[in-house]
Amino acid sequence: MNIQEVLAALSLEEKAALLSGQGAWETRGVERLGVFPAVLTDGPHGVRLQDPAADSFSLEASLPATCFPTAAALGSSWDVDLLTRVGVALGVEGRAAGVGVLLGPGVNIKRSPLCGRNFEYFAEDPFLTGRLGAALVNGLQSQGVGASLKHFAANNQETDRMQVSADVDPRTLREIYLAAFEHIVTTAAPWTVMAAYNRVNGVHAAQNGWLLTDVLRREWGFDGVVVSDWGAVTDPAEAVAAGLDLEMPTTGEFSPAKLVEAVKAGRLGEAVIDESVTRLLTMLDRAARSCVRPVPDVDFGAHHDLARRAAAESAVLLKNEDAILPLDPGARTSVALIGEFARTPAFQGGGSSLINATRIDTALDAVTAAAGAHGRVSFSAGFTLSGEDDAELLGAAVTAAGEAGVAVVFLGLPEGAETEGLDRTDIDLPDVQRRLLRAVAGVNDNVVVVLANGGVVEVTTWQHHAKAILEGWLNGQAGGAAVADLLFGRANPCGRLAETIPLRLQDTPAYLNFPGNDGHVLYGERLYVGYRYYDAKALPVAYPFGHGLSYTTFAYSDLRATVAGEGENVVVRLRFTVTNAGQRAGKEVVQAYVVDIDARVDRPVRELKAFTKVELAPGQSTPVDLELRARDLSFFSPAENRWALEGGDFEVGVGASSRDLRLTTTVTVKAPPLRRPLDLEATVTEWLADATAGPLLRQALDSGHGSSFGSSAEILDMIGGFPLSRLVSMSGGRLDITNLLPLIDRGNA
Ligand code: BGC
Repeated sequence: MNIQEVLAALSLEEKAALLSGQGAWETRGVERLGVFPAVLTDGPHGVRLQDPAADSFSLEASLPATCFPTAAALGSSWDVDLLTRVGVALGVEGRAAGVGVLLGPGVNIKRSPLCGRNFEYFAEDPFLTGRLGAALVNGLQSQGVGASLKHFAANNQETDRMQVSADVDPRTLREIYLAAFEHIVTTAAPWTVMAAYNRVNGVHAAQNGWLLTDVLRREWGFDGVVVSDWGAVTDPAEAVAAGLDLEMPTTGEFSPAKLVEAVKAGRLGEAVIDESVTRLLTMLDRAARSCVRPVPDVDFGAHHDLARRAAAESAVLLKNEDAILPLDPGARTSVALIGEFARTPAFQGGGSSLINATRIDTALDAVTAAAGAHGRVSFSAGFTLSGEDDAELLGAAVTAAGEAGVAVVFLGLPEGAETEGLDRTDIDLPDVQRRLLRAVAGVNDNVVVVLANGGVVEVTTWQHHAKAILEGWLNGQAGGAAVADLLFGRANPCGRLAETIPLRLQDTPAYLNFPGNDGHVLYGERLYVGYRYYDAKALPVAYPFGHGLSYTTFAYSDLRATVAGEGENVVVRLRFTVTNAGQRAGKEVVQAYVVDIDARVDRPVRELKAFTKVELAPGQSTPVDLELRARDLSFFSPAENRWALEGGDFEVGVGASSRDLRLTTTVTVKAPPLRRPLDLEATVTEWLADATAGPLLRQALDSGHGSSFGSSAEILDMIGGFPLSRLVSMSGGRLDITNLLPLIDRGNA
């Protein structure tokens, strides 16, 4: 497409029309100019292409597609290659279905475990989220299907989601809520970014010029299309002026007419419309180029196998007393499978991401098959998914548990508990399930719990009933088979928590500020989200961020750190050895956390800044190399509106979780000094800290003629926080700062 020619040939009305959709899932095109519409569809863990025969907003009636593990699961894999492979598979299915843009990945931060869409998001940590999200985008787009990075930004709850203002200070926004978006935009160039429903500091995300233009386009260089979340636009002209390119879904002729009217009234420049149309045409051109490539054959069998491997890679073994897992398929132990989820798996959440799976593996079938001819496997439902008490089901399950060598109890959140549009109000498993577990534990000491949930659930009150807990998450259509692989040791657990499991909901960082009141939610915990909060307060947690066991063990040794370059060019290289010290092949997720030891601003106790997953045979060792760059050591300075690196000592810890650092070292990083410019509002302490200005101020304070201050330690303790201007006025002008005045210019420069 010759975009400039097409643009020149379009009337204002046609251009305005292009900036909103046609129907629920398509852009408009311009037939006379050969501009084809593109299809945009959900996302994020499968292709939900609506059955053309269905009503335009049906969630149920979509064409069969592979339901991969949800982001909550994939996030726990900590596996960049896996995310790329899942992205590729999504791209292949998307292309085969004629999809131009897949609406995902969702990279919002899990601020509170109550957010009903946490299952669609990767982690409580922006670094992990950014790396995994970029991998998925790269995989997807390698197949010629565009990504839609969502929901931009600070969309961390479902309550009042169309209106609520996320009130977030600028540093927290940058370091926690925008960081993953920034990484993915700048490294993976998604075709589109989806503007969220909510307001950010009072302004709707879809009409927020600071967010969409100043930050996303100018600072990060995004040149793709900004699409609205479905129905997020309140004022079409304001949205386009702010940097939005495509309003979805269609509003018929309503929005195009508003745009034309705004241009004619001089409220919106036609040049602004042209910029948006240019970006949109570029995207349509990309989609059209994909369409002329041969349509791939989808190997749904291979995708199912990938979904199974992905689910196995994502499960987190929380505890494993007496090495009760893995079960030995040859040992003729009888296994009681208990819980409706073994037969009716919970493997995805509700809402726009709902996939019509090509097939569904149940743990019941897979465990029965894995146990082989000798194995004795029984099944009892134990509870109904509706949550009502059923004494008969409970009684039968307890009898079965009493007769079996091992009871594997499948617990989780019932359908509807985690869905778009609603937040949870607690993090508890349903009562009926906890009662069942207690009763089972009363008759059998060998209890294994398998969990199915997207957001974390409380384990404190019941985990003593189980020797092992396998957190399976909402793990996609092949999750049942993956669980069997893990239970019998055909796969070795290697997922790690991407979200801390707190002892109780009341301990969570946003507890007092979620979901807000009267249209506002205050992000009062600031940077201290997830482990950053628990670690700052040294709070005990049930299982920390990064935690996950394996059927083998890993040893860490010989950490060496070298620093090359300084300031913006600094590179800290870490090298150490990881050894599989156990009897089984397995994978370790190696994590590096950083803390700025003597920072000028408050900084979290530790922050994840590098990770990798290594696979090792029993006894095998491997060197691991990780790198930290300036950004990994920096904080965002709102005063200077930039990332700032403060020179000095940083402690770096590597290990198996945020609370299991095996090796630590300190590195010294050189960087130009950071200080606020010296002006009359800078404090006495700030002036005194300056090598040139300090002695001059001290001299002035001590000078006999009239200053009543002096510079004794006691006096400086008291007046250190005073702005210099205040000292001058308090001295009745007698404090002579003539010698300091020339330094003001230098400081500001
Ligand atoms: C959701 C988006 C989704 C869109 C289209 C919205 O309700 O927030 O995540 O992509 O619908 O289904």
